[in-house]
Amino acid sequence: MTSDGSVLITGIGTLVTNSPELGDGPLGLLHDAAMVFRDGVVEWVGPAARVPDGAAHHRYDVDGRAVLPGFVDSHAHLVFGGERAEEFAARMTGEPYGAGGIRTTIAATRGSSDDQLDANMARLVREALAAGSTTIECKSGYGQDIDTEMRSLRVAGRHTGETTLLAAHVTPPEYTGRTDDYVEMVCERMIPDCAPHAKWIDVFCETGAFDRDQSEAVLRAGIDAGLTARVHGNQLGPGPGVQLAVELGAASVDHVTHTTADDVEALAASSTVATLLPTADFCTRSSRYPDARAMLDAGVTVALAADCNPGTSYTTSIPLCIALAVREMHMSPDEAVWAATAGGAAALQRNDIGRLTVGSRADAIALDAPSHIHLAYRPGVPLVREVWKNGALVP
Ligand code: NIG
Ligand code: FE
Repeated sequence: MTSDGSVLITGIGTLVTNSPELGDGPLGLLHDAAMVFRDGVVEWVGPAARVPDGAAHHRYDVDGRAVLPGFVDSHAHLVFGGERAEEFAARMTGEPYGAGGIRTTIAATRGSSDDQLDANMARLVREALAAGSTTIECKSGYGQDIDTEMRSLRVAGRHTGETTLLAAHVTPPEYTGRTDDYVEMVCERMIPDCAPHAKWIDVFCETGAFDRDQSEAVLRAGIDAGLTARVHGNQLGPGPGVQLAVELGAASVDHVTHTTADDVEALAASSTVATLLPTADFCTRSSRYPDARAMLDAGVTVALAADCNPGTSYTTSIPLCIALAVREMHMSPDEAVWAATAGGAAALQRNDIGRLTVGSRADAIALDAPSHIHLAYRPGVPLVREVWKNGALVP
């Protein structure tokens, strides 16, 4: 970057703008393109032959490779202590996944210092950034007491503006058999105390976690405290999560692995995004993946996210999500790339990220490949070669 904060990126073989007015199809594809970043935003984008004179003095040539918006990972749990490799190994030899494992991480998180939680999150954010995620949401949820939830949100807030109070993840041990009492404490004390540190309120609406009424109470208390709802729903089996999310105008309902035709119809008629987390289905050896095809064909807005957490999906890799979405969920490579960029932005109700058009954040990645299709075509290969965040090349 030059001292005036600008850089001209040249030699872009394929540019995904996610701005249909700029190029072909929903991805707004441009070939042989260039882009100018200045002061953290996109100042100009277009064909290489039409770069404005003196647009920027520092040139960065990507030599015919593909450039995309940075991935927007709209679902992650990055504040936690310990890990659960033994639980994963047991699952791979036949143990089913249940919400009980969350309690293992609650104990480890309560026993961790702020510095330990911060260092662990910093490591995961670095890992995610290297894999192309320039925005990452982060939930609390491994405290399930006021003090640890508050500490978790403060740690998360040092790394991202997209902070979520996952107030009802699982009933903590001291409330065993008293889930309604826990929900009451959450609504009356935890949410009012923690809301100033969060943007979103989330709940795990699932058999074995929180039922419809309990989930609704938590979400309404969060909304009353100024937060916007997001929901973990329909992960382990069919349930009321999708309908509740739609009824409350949630920004997103996440997992949605087990949906009915009514659920898909309700989503299609709403502004709630369906955020699919295929690495969670992969790592829990779920009996199925979400029916992305039915959702897309019905007109549902679909996002892809990695759900990084120590239980069900200990990965920060959006490229892996894209590969699974294409191979296992019958999304086209274009649909999967859109869902991991513009779809994630929609799930976070942001229009300044997830696309590359004049005025958007200069968050972009260059692949070691000639097109975005390679993200699915070359699974497991670390194709993200350069990452720009706020217009600066990440070292
Ligand atoms: O999104 N579904 C609930 N919560 C997490 C998993 C939590 C855990 O097992 O630690 C998820 O998959
Ligand atoms: Fe999750």
